[in-house]
Amino acid sequence: MEIVIMPTPLEVDSTAADIVEGYVRRGATTLGLATGSSPIGTYRELARRHRVSGLDFSQAQAFLLDEYLGLPKSHSQSYYSVIRAEFVDHVNLDPERVFSPDGEAAIPDAEVERYDRSIAEAGGVDVQLLGIGTDGHIGFNEPGSALSSRTRVKTLTEQTRIDNARFFERPDDVPHHVLTQGLGTISDARHLVMIATGEGKADAIAAAVEGPLTAFCPASILQWHRHVTVVIDEAAAGRL
Ligand code: GLP
Repeated sequence: MEIVIMPTPLEVDSTAADIVEGYVRRGATTLGLATGSSPIGTYRELARRHRVSGLDFSQAQAFLLDEYLGLPKSHSQSYYSVIRAEFVDHVNLDPERVFSPDGEAAIPDAEVERYDRSIAEAGGVDVQLLGIGTDGHIGFNEPGSALSSRTRVKTLTEQTRIDNARFFERPDDVPHHVLTQGLGTISDARHLVMIATGEGKADAIAAAVEGPLTAFCPASILQWHRHVTVVIDEAAAGRL
């Protein structure tokens, strides 16, 4: 595991963007995209490079980590809409080649199996961006998630619903259930890039990087992966 500590969040963004750019420059590549605020600066930096130096995403495809159950794709807070607004609409990545679990699927258990299979059938993810929850969750794999889990339906903890309430009009609007790639699914990606900034993430980063490998800190699964880069600022590195 490579830990890259940068002085400021802006330098975290450009370091993570450098990694993604390396894959995109190879042409056909499969990106794993995460929502949440952590990767937003990286997306902005990639969009800037597209604008300024023509970084070309036309051969790329992308898979999202997770989606709220019950929200249509068109809902402003569906993760599909968020990733369109934050990233895809600012580069030349074909929206038809951006895939996410269908939050409105009639049979969610069938949908998660289909989605998991579709990632493998597309050749797997080359580089997966990840944020980390304050409780150490990745995607929506809350503490207690099986380390080998596949894409499945999960119930959010109250803490995660509270953390995410800022994106919704009313706290009660935050869905209770989600479809999320499992820890095993995420681990199938060939390169994992975790991005975290700020003191609020320092405990979670310390547990993920230096704590025991345990389902109680889902992000500790990174310790088992053969190719991981953790890109953090000094504040998030404060407890290492
Ligand atoms: C959500 C997302 C995660 C994300 C986490 C942290 O729960 N499902 O993918 O890592 O939030 O979000 P933030 O980066 O805003 O702190």
